[in-house]
Amino acid sequence: MKEECVVKIVEENKDDFMELLLLADEQEDMVRRYLDRGTLFALYDGELVSICVVTEEGEGEYEIQNLATREEYQRKGYGRALIHHVLEHYKGPGRIMWVGTGDSPMTVPFYESCGFVYSHRLANYIVEHYDHPIFENGVQLTDKVYFKKALS
Ligand SMILES: CC(C)(COP(=O)(O)OP(=O)(O)OC[C@H]1O[C@@H](n2cnc3c(N)ncnc32)[C@H](O)[C@@H]1OP(=O)(O)O)[C@@H](O)C(=O)NCCC(=O)NCCS
Repeated sequence: MKEECVVKIVEENKDDFMELLLLADEQEDMVRRYLDRGTLFALYDGELVSICVVTEEGEGEYEIQNLATREEYQRKGYGRALIHHVLEHYKGPGRIMWVGTGDSPMTVPFYESCGFVYSHRLANYIVEHYDHPIFENGVQLTDKVYFKKALS
């Protein structure tokens, strides 16, 4: 990753980022549950590379709802850099950052490598809330798994 990366907060035309948002959360009506009320961070390294959406979930509590790095840029440190930026951004007002994700061998190691620890799971959340089965690396995702990190 190069030094000249910039992270912008996107206030308008968030739909322009839908293609990348759908990489992390493949059903558009589920993305729309949080996109308007969420803060959209976009990381650029010349061009758009990664995005992240964070919502406020109560006094001092925030939640990462979506995080995606364009496929050709994955495993180059951009996702971790964006998480680091987001955690710094919420350090002042926030006590805790949550993230809920599929129980996947791709995302769980990523959040653990960013310092998040397992909290709890919502059994069958993905099966019950999405209108089609979601597969990652050939494995069907069923539960939503929550991780947390103190913002200190
Ligand atoms: C998950 C995702 C955002 C990670 O972004 P990224 O820019 O590739 O992540 P980084 O390069 O910063 O990875 C940081 C560390 O996370 C871990 N990691 C990242 N991707 C991983 C994978 N596929 N398998 C195992 N570990 C992984 C590694 O420890 C990695 O460090 P290393 O490359 O030095 O070993 C990206 O893979 C992605 O967009 N996936 C599709 C969308 C998605 O599932 N989003 C999460 C749901 S909200």
